[in-house]
Amino acid sequence: MNLPKKITIWEVGPRDGLQNEKVHLTLEQKAELIQLSVDAGLKNVEVGSFVSPKAIPTMADTDQLCALLPQVEGAKYRGLIFNLKGLQRGEKAGLKACELTISASRGHCLANMNKTPEDAVQSFKEVIEYANANNIYLNGAVATVFGCSIDGKVPFEQVASVLKALHTLGMRDLTLADTTGMANPKQVYEYSCRVQELFPDIKWTLHFHNTRGLGLANVLAGMQAGITSFDTAYAGLGGCPFAPGASGNIATEDLVNMCNEMGIETGVDLDKCIKLGYRVEEIIGGTRSSSILRAGKCSDIVKKH
Ligand code: COA
Ligand code: ZN
Repeated sequence: MNLPKKITIWEVGPRDGLQNEKVHLTLEQKAELIQLSVDAGLKNVEVGSFVSPKAIPTMADTDQLCALLPQVEGAKYRGLIFNLKGLQRGEKAGLKACELTISASRGHCLANMNKTPEDAVQSFKEVIEYANANNIYLNGAVATVFGCSIDGKVPFEQVASVLKALHTLGMRDLTLADTTGMANPKQVYEYSCRVQELFPDIKWTLHFHNTRGLGLANVLAGMQAGITSFDTAYAGLGGCPFAPGASGNIATEDLVNMCNEMGIETGVDLDKCIKLGYRVEEIIGGTRSSSILRAGKCSDIVKKH
């Protein structure tokens, strides 16, 4: 099996996880969860988004949250953005990195950011220029790569044309997102191989939602194709309010457990990660789609018998 020795995890719970929750966390609660994430070794954190507060009310206070981020060596924080206004908010809040987002499918792009993918790419020019001029690191994220709950199947050629446009604009760090949980492992393997062949100078990350139970299988397929960076959300929270039927990301603790069992390094302490997951559930009041929070990790079961 082609398994990496080590992977990178981006904790997107504070953004993807909380954006779709009915409960609005206080700034202190948001900051506490980020502190617990960093303490667990999750040092790459997407802390929130800088978008219209009318579109996503739970993210309206990301600016203030940035003042409460733990200043720990090695911690990397970023905010999700769609436009220059978002980037400038991130800059003012002190962030050194942002994730500029677009959708591969027309339907989701229009619903989510009120632009066609072609217009979105055009509008990115000023954002990328500003980021370059002001030393802010930008990675790109492409939503609905593996399917769209508005448009249905998204042809690979359509995905490739968005990727090509972002590559032409100079982006070299891209995330392929399965926003609606429609990807399957065969497709993930094929897409991952093809994008690496087409754009060998891009660093790739995969972002899966476990909507149809295929999240970790998709991660494994990505690993088989040589990808070693993945987004996850604490307690399996997550979902885009503008993608009908969207549900939780793969749970951070589930991926860490899988990697531990397979001898893949993550740099994350699973016990602390599980405690973080329980604290998330306590704050939001209810359970989401984490398996490890329900079943416990394998080594605990072995100890009991
Ligand atoms: N931060 C805060 N407010 C913003 C903003 C930003 N980054 N960008 C735009 N706005 C505000 C404008 O100030 C304007 O406010 P007003 O109505 O009070 O005058 C309003 O939003 C409309 O601005 P406009 O530039 O015409 O944007 P739009 O209506 O085309 O919307 C987005 C574009 C991207 C800002 C909006 O669709 C959005 O925020 N979507 C959220 C998508 C999201 O987060 N999805 C989940 C993650 S995938
Ligand atoms: Zn997502």
